[in-house]
Amino acid sequence: MEQTLRASEEKYRRLVDNIDQVIFSLDREGRFTYVSPAVERMSGWRVSDIVGHPFDEFVHPEDLARVRLNIAGRYRGAREPHEFRVVNSDGSPLHVRTYSYPLSEGDEPAGLSGIMTDITGQKQLQEQLHQSRKLEAIGRLAGGIAHDFSNLLTAITGFSEMLLLDGRVDAESRGWVAEIRKSIDRGSSLVRQLLSFSRKQVVRPRTVDLNELIRGIERMLGRLVGEHLVLQTRLAEALPPLQADAGQLELAIVNLAVNARDAMPGGGTLTIETSAAPSRDGPRIRLAISDTGIGMDDRVRSHLFEPFFTTKEPGKGTGLGLSTVYGIVQQCGGTIAVESAPGLGTRFVIDLPASDAKSERDGSAAAEAAAAGGTERLLVVEDDPLVRLTIQACLAPLGYRLTVASDGAEALRVDPAAIDLLVTDVVMPGLSGGSLAARMREACPELAVLFVSGYEAGLLFPDGIPDGRSAFLQKPFTTEALARAVRSLLD
Ligand SMILES: Nc1ncnc2c1ncn2[C@@H]1O[C@H](COP(=O)(O)OP(=O)(O)OP(=O)(O)O)[C@@H](O)[C@H]1O
Ligand SMILES: [Mg+2]
Repeated sequence: MEQTLRASEEKYRRLVDNIDQVIFSLDREGRFTYVSPAVERMSGWRVSDIVGHPFDEFVHPEDLARVRLNIAGRYRGAREPHEFRVVNSDGSPLHVRTYSYPLSEGDEPAGLSGIMTDITGQKQLQEQLHQSRKLEAIGRLAGGIAHDFSNLLTAITGFSEMLLLDGRVDAESRGWVAEIRKSIDRGSSLVRQLLSFSRKQVVRPRTVDLNELIRGIERMLGRLVGEHLVLQTRLAEALPPLQADAGQLELAIVNLAVNARDAMPGGGTLTIETSAAPSRDGPRIRLAISDTGIGMDDRVRSHLFEPFFTTKEPGKGTGLGLSTVYGIVQQCGGTIAVESAPGLGTRFVIDLPASDAKSERDGSAAAEAAAAGGTERLLVVEDDPLVRLTIQACLAPLGYRLTVASDGAEALRVDPAAIDLLVTDVVMPGLSGGSLAARMREACPELAVLFVSGYEAGLLFPDGIPDGRSAFLQKPFTTEALARAVRSLLD
């Protein structure tokens, strides 16, 4: 009898020791009377550290009040699982879910017994999902604003160029117009940053050797971070190439380096590392940028990548740096993660997919032809009146004969045989630019078409720009670029 009992006790013990969950019991005062050895794997605490101690010592201080209330509720019959944080032996938080129920001895419950599961990984995944949904929503909003704003800038650019061409404008006023142009340039670069965050930026991906790219900007980075900081690069020996827009990637590194500099006002070390990181979905390249600066708390970390989030004083930071970096990394199909704690420095880790093509230099810049005019007949279709006016104001002085329409339906009233080139916005209410072009080409297959849009061509025409004599021009454009695009389609 005793032997059977011992055997069954042994079986039970082995079961309890080997499951991932922790089984525990507390006495009426909340002291541990039992905890299974799995607790050591889960939290780093030994059984002897725990038994005899009150549960308060192990619960995260911010969750303690909630846990106390929950335990009181258990004695009154509450049974749902409860989630809170425990503090591991190394001080890190552990998310757990517990099920517990009162242990009765006669009428009075003698304490609680329960089972505890580690749900830290699950919590982190949820957090990541939440974060990426939030950023996606903000990205859509930012992209929308940037798009409208870029239309306005196109108009302002156009009209200020008209002023410069106007012989009646005196020298002093020309100076003012030049100032307006400078402000427009700043506005355009803001728009570009927003667009790259919302992934609507035009990118020119090519094969890039990340090590080479870093060597190319190393000296510039050194000057940027200043002499009171040590800049260290640790580059992997051989790195597979990747597909990316080199300029954008440089911008991302510069943004991270500037942030690191700002986080180390008293000096420190900025380290840039590259390594090859094999993964389940093929070879990946890792870029890590770390500093020994002030670090950041959880609050800052959770808002880090949002546009306009900054802890810098007004005028010092726009809060667009990291949102730009985020957009660029996303565009390359990569991921970005951050490790940081107050006083312990910060490390940004970017993983990018490698490509198999060999590294190459980018091709020659297209020869820039001077903007010439002509006498051809153009049909301009654009729903935004300011942009429409700008296009008119730019092309009319060059000699072209213009017909304008504010949407596709109006444009279809024009005989396609009577025009040489259709200049059309792509995204319009009603008929889109693409459908309009297709309809007009049914009657006149040779018709040349210039599509203009604030959106990236790849987004609008995932299968490429429609066949035939077509080209695409992204807003905001200069009158020069518009004139050149028109001329080259007509020639
Ligand atoms: N390396 C870092 N160490 C500590 N805090 C950082 C670090 N990088 C970013 N941060 C925090 O994240 C915030 C947002 O960074 P972000 O680059 O997006 O904007 P910013 O640097 O404030 O302004 P901007 O880059 O537009 O001039 C910073 O204000 C800072 O609080
Ligand atoms: Mg910054």
